[in-house]
Amino acid sequence: AEGVTGRERNPADVAAIAEAAEMLKAGNTVAFPTETVYGLGADARNAEAVEAIFKAKGRPSDNPLIVHIADRAALGELVTEVPAVAAALMDAYWPGPLTVVLPLRAGVLSARVTAGLDTVGVRMPDHPVALALLAEAGCPVAAPSANRSGRPSPTLAGHVLDDLAGKIGGVLDGGAAGVGLESTVVQVQPDGSVAVLRPGGITAAQLAAVAGEAAVTGVSAAPDFTPPQEAAEAPERPAPDAAGDGSPAPRAPGMKYAHYAPRGWLGVVRGSSPAGAAKAAAGLLAAARERGETTGMLLFEEHLPLYPAGAADCVVSLGPLASPETAARSLYAALRRFDEAEATYILAEACPETGLGSAIMNRLMKAAAGRVIDAE
Ligand code: TXA
Ligand code: MG
Repeated sequence: AEGVTGRERNPADVAAIAEAAEMLKAGNTVAFPTETVYGLGADARNAEAVEAIFKAKGRPSDNPLIVHIADRAALGELVTEVPAVAAALMDAYWPGPLTVVLPLRAGVLSARVTAGLDTVGVRMPDHPVALALLAEAGCPVAAPSANRSGRPSPTLAGHVLDDLAGKIGGVLDGGAAGVGLESTVVQVQPDGSVAVLRPGGITAAQLAAVAGEAAVTGVSAAPDFTPPQEAAEAPERPAPDAAGDGSPAPRAPGMKYAHYAPRGWLGVVRGSSPAGAAKAAAGLLAAARERGETTGMLLFEEHLPLYPAGAADCVVSLGPLASPETAARSLYAALRRFDEAEATYILAEACPETGLGSAIMNRLMKAAAGRVIDAE
């Protein structure tokens, strides 16, 4: 974040932020950096501007957008009520990667933003360029991740252009996103408990530190087991994601869609030991190559020696297993690397679902449309 702060002081960036703010005020779409991923912003009160977001992304209209603000004072205009637990979470984690779903105040935002729901997700991003842009635009800014719907979210301005060039007003370049995964989306329930609708940059432990251990109800990666032989079949994507884990927790509407996916077939490999998982993966990759696939492998650095040399055409490391922050930051760029390599058959190592690992596995499982290969 230090580097970004430095860039913000650059006069060229001040001018770019001013120009982007003018575009938002005029009803255009502008992509901008946040600490999680790049967002595609538009004035949330302007129905046509919001419509342009859905059009550029190819986003299903029943998937609501997060509204971004630079100032807690802007909240009162958007929502009718802030439960005490929600306020405590904002005190602790705003600005930051936390979206809080609250009761919508009628008549302010375009109905397209909330997809007709009576709630709205609000977030204050922890990024100097985003905060400066929001302050200068002076309006609530609806901003989903700035990718084509279904694709990995953008962590670089170049990713935004790869997906949306010619479809949006412009992009503010703030360098690489620091967290690399989207915000955690939560909703405080009538009993005061905190439902995690989407795991993200704020971990369950961080939520529990504010709300109490018993008061956080989560969603797991909800693996829908798929036998390995499906690997031989033609991939069919995007597929609606099965609801999954039997959890009664309410979910973000967006989580039902196939997401974050590279163009090739992707499966997640789980094993009772790293060596077992690596052996199974290496066998599947060799078989895939045999039938003419271009192969990819996503793994953790310390497991690399467990694979034979050249195990896949494109091998990408998420960094050390001990640093989920590194993995989170690298994940979406890694998935895009497989597209550049034109990989058609990709395997990814599973990681422990603790801390940020929950969000990483959630995204990997979505990207794989629930396909899991259980190794010895
Ligand atoms: O980190 C982030 O949250 C990024 C950056 C740009 O801020 N934005 C982002 O937006 O990830 P998007 O549109 O890609 O994901 C928004 C998620 C979706 O799963 C959506 O269904 C959920 O938030 N969501 C939005 N409003 C909601 C609401 N009122 N109730 C439940 N879920 C909601
Ligand atoms: Mg998104």
